[in-house]
Amino acid sequence: MSTINYDERIPNNVNLSSDKRLLRALEKWHPAYLDWWKEMGPEGWQGNDVYLRTAVSVEPGGWAHWGYVKMPEYRWGIFLDDPVPDRRISHGDHMGAPVWQEVPGEYRNILRRVIVTQADTEPASVEQQRRLGETAPSLYDMRSLFQVNVEEGRHLWAMVYLLHAHFGKDGRDEADELLARRAGNPDKPRILDAFNQPCADWLTFFCFTTFTDRDGKYQLGALAESAFDPLSRTCRFMLTEEAHHLSVGETGVERILRRGAQLEKQSSHGDARELGGIDVPTVQKWVNYWFPYCLDLFGSEISSNAAEFFASGLKGRWAEHKDYEDHRALGVSHSMTVVKNGQMEQQDVPLRNAMNEVLRQSYINDCARVVKRWNNALEEEGSRFRITLPSPRFFRRQGIYADAHFDREGQLISKEEWDQKIVGWLPSDADRAYVTGLMKPVYEPGKMANWIAAPRKGLAGQSLEFDYVRV
Ligand SMILES: [Fe+2]
Ligand SMILES: [Fe+2]
Repeated sequence: MSTINYDERIPNNVNLSSDKRLLRALEKWHPAYLDWWKEMGPEGWQGNDVYLRTAVSVEPGGWAHWGYVKMPEYRWGIFLDDPVPDRRISHGDHMGAPVWQEVPGEYRNILRRVIVTQADTEPASVEQQRRLGETAPSLYDMRSLFQVNVEEGRHLWAMVYLLHAHFGKDGRDEADELLARRAGNPDKPRILDAFNQPCADWLTFFCFTTFTDRDGKYQLGALAESAFDPLSRTCRFMLTEEAHHLSVGETGVERILRRGAQLEKQSSHGDARELGGIDVPTVQKWVNYWFPYCLDLFGSEISSNAAEFFASGLKGRWAEHKDYEDHRALGVSHSMTVVKNGQMEQQDVPLRNAMNEVLRQSYINDCARVVKRWNNALEEEGSRFRITLPSPRFFRRQGIYADAHFDREGQLISKEEWDQKIVGWLPSDADRAYVTGLMKPVYEPGKMANWIAAPRKGLAGQSLEFDYVRV
């Protein structure tokens, strides 16, 4: 018999202690989760005190508690955003009907697949990032990494709660599988490709949190529109935490660019690498790599699955109510560029079948805003370089552009031309070796590695010299 009081052990607002069936399921899953965390979570730092925020409620402004905690003792909570009174289905064929508190039988399988696919990304990213503590450029950054990691762990809890509470034995089996797959393991890989890519250096980490966590933001936003109300409420609260992950990435890349630009000016050849920095063209190559990988995550441009998700009300668009007037999306089409007989041409696709593309476009607009901010920083620092986003057709491995080759501007090119130019576009072995060579840990409070500028201020009211991780 368990002696854990789950209301104390797991902060929650779902009245955990009153649901015996759910408690039994969690009591079985919880030790397996901890085993997974100790095996696959941040390597080498499990015994250290880390200054972390913990979600303790869903009150805007007061939802987080800050304090030192050892990561295996982090209180991974289960929080659903407050219910919206009389919430109605926002889009699709059932628009206007009351939202569902239980899973309708006919959507059980696809809904489970949607939840599992989202859930799988959460532990995957923890696995991808597990060795970065060894090379943290500062204690401030190491803390940010661990904050992201424990919150991805909490997102896994949030999704596992849905599986346990609403999908019976199938849900429990899926929850077990989430702890069994491993990022990058060829025998039992994570579901989505971007979550099997190595994340071995901090430039990658900051690109990952900029681009891949931002995919998470848009997926969660689309699921926040879901007719399945518990999923909607879960995703709405996850978005609160996700905002921090995005800012870790966005400001991290910006700090690398600033430092690169400063060293570029100091160097006699105008080359930041000469003085041990990361030059802007190298950052551009990382952008060229990660942005397309994250575009792939949205699924194919023309997709009957996407149409079904929208029609059934399982998944809406980003800001469905704010940005759109027609929420049925019937009898309308979306124009997209396709490749036919070796030529690019425009094709009209029924809007519902283009929903992945519509969500991807919202994401691209957001990425463009981030790049603009980075370029403002480069201008301020007097760099001669700017960052650009490649065309959404460039370097795709999923969807309608995967079978052809495109240059960075999105023009069709031959395989021979692609093979010739790839070294200039994507990180080469030499680029990776250079960046990896810079990754030396800096564990002294307030100090920064040479290749990254200091953040403007500390976190949560603390100074930059604060002991964010007790080494
Ligand atoms: Fe997450
Ligand atoms: Fe995240």
